[in-house]
Amino acid sequence: NGEMVAWNGKVHTVLSPICIKTDNGLERRVIGSYPLCTPSEALQSLEAAVNAYNDGRGEWPTMSVGDRIAALEKFTGKMIAKKDEVVKLIMWEIGKSYADSIKEFDRTVEYINATIDAYKDVDRASSRFVIEQGIIGQIRRSPLGVVLCMGPFNYPLNETFTTLIPALLMGNTILFKPPKHGALLHFPLLEAFRECFPKGVMNTIYGPGSDIIPPLMESGKINVLTLIGSSKVANQLKKMHPKVNRLRAILGLDAKNAAIITSQADIELAVKECVLGSLSFNGQRCTAIKIIFVHNAVKDAFLERLTAEVEKLKFGMPWEKDVFLTPLPEPNKPQYLKDCIEDAIANGAKVLNENGGKTNHTFVFPAILFPVNDKMKVYSEEQFGPLIPVVPFDDIETPIQYLIHSEHGQQTSLFSNDADELAHLIDPLVNQVSRVNINCQCQRGPDIFPFTGRKDSAEATLSVGDALRAFSIRSMVATKQ
Ligand code: G3H
Repeated sequence: NGEMVAWNGKVHTVLSPICIKTDNGLERRVIGSYPLCTPSEALQSLEAAVNAYNDGRGEWPTMSVGDRIAALEKFTGKMIAKKDEVVKLIMWEIGKSYADSIKEFDRTVEYINATIDAYKDVDRASSRFVIEQGIIGQIRRSPLGVVLCMGPFNYPLNETFTTLIPALLMGNTILFKPPKHGALLHFPLLEAFRECFPKGVMNTIYGPGSDIIPPLMESGKINVLTLIGSSKVANQLKKMHPKVNRLRAILGLDAKNAAIITSQADIELAVKECVLGSLSFNGQRCTAIKIIFVHNAVKDAFLERLTAEVEKLKFGMPWEKDVFLTPLPEPNKPQYLKDCIEDAIANGAKVLNENGGKTNHTFVFPAILFPVNDKMKVYSEEQFGPLIPVVPFDDIETPIQYLIHSEHGQQTSLFSNDADELAHLIDPLVNQVSRVNINCQCQRGPDIFPFTGRKDSAEATLSVGDALRAFSIRSMVATKQ
């Protein structure tokens, strides 16, 4: 509720994935701590957001568009002033390279600015009047209420803000819970939130999600749930709401994006894009390529080159120049990846690259697994880490059937230099996923492009203008001529 309060409760100590030398050998470095609020404190924050919304009569939901934009522009200025601090925290908390942490910050500022521009268009559209069958109408967009916003660890700033900012701009009030890994980096921005928005509009709660989120959902006072995370968690949370039909869910969820290398592919290009797509930020991207289907006619050339390129990738500390692979922030991930590799080997796959799958503290060396089949975990599970499962095929129906039967439907990459083959495949593919990338890796950006998915991959579209529409309702004021 816009108050800074002294904290006497429990705290969570944050360990960086970056290890340092101690008397006991290499250990994860302590980089800070954050408060763990209790369920009743989380409910107090909820009351602040509910009161600030005040059934749509609060200062924020009734404020003019120009004033809401001014508040956000003031916030953005203060955020830019904190860039250095936030970027270093991204790097230390989640092990993202310094260069990519800067990119994440800059991309977020660009997203805010583009969203403000898109909001001006929404406003221009709202100020138009239409006359139809004797009725004069002003069609506008109105807020939805209290938004519970949760982002992921892999883009703790950017992905959070791509929901939080449009939700705020449309006049909603917010309860924001930062991700467990990627929480400290929001600290430098709390004071700016307090200074730029009316009391209770923007509330940040720190705590164990399993303790503090259920009472919020069970209260029935959350109007919008927005989560970038797993479909399992999203479904559990939705069920907690007493009137789920009144809850709007804006979700970016699981993905198992497949790359398809046909016999007509440019192998050099396919390998370059598949390495980037599979292993950027150690494969910890929802848009990462998480399985590759390669035609048997080009399989040997593709695997030989892929192995050579993966073996060349540079491991290192996130601040090192040109570093590509960095430490992993989730403590249980190395064991999970090891289990996936053992399961694949037990079912007939080999690790093709030197050191593939080996671990060194919080580092995991990427592993190319071949030949992968449907008995293996890596065939269907979203590994969210540096594993490259490769499936050989003779008939293009094999990858198409994979996409048809997958629980996911975010993106796919198709590699071919044959225009007829591409023309034949595009419709079947784009009717299974929400984006088909021709001769390039899967990715979200540029952020103006629709970012969504089919099946368990998404609910709603989170690109610049679409997100404003997601966090509002089309409404109107009408009168007779
Ligand atoms: O984790 C999901 C991100 O939105 C991916 O974004 O494709 O730009 O890495 P990116």
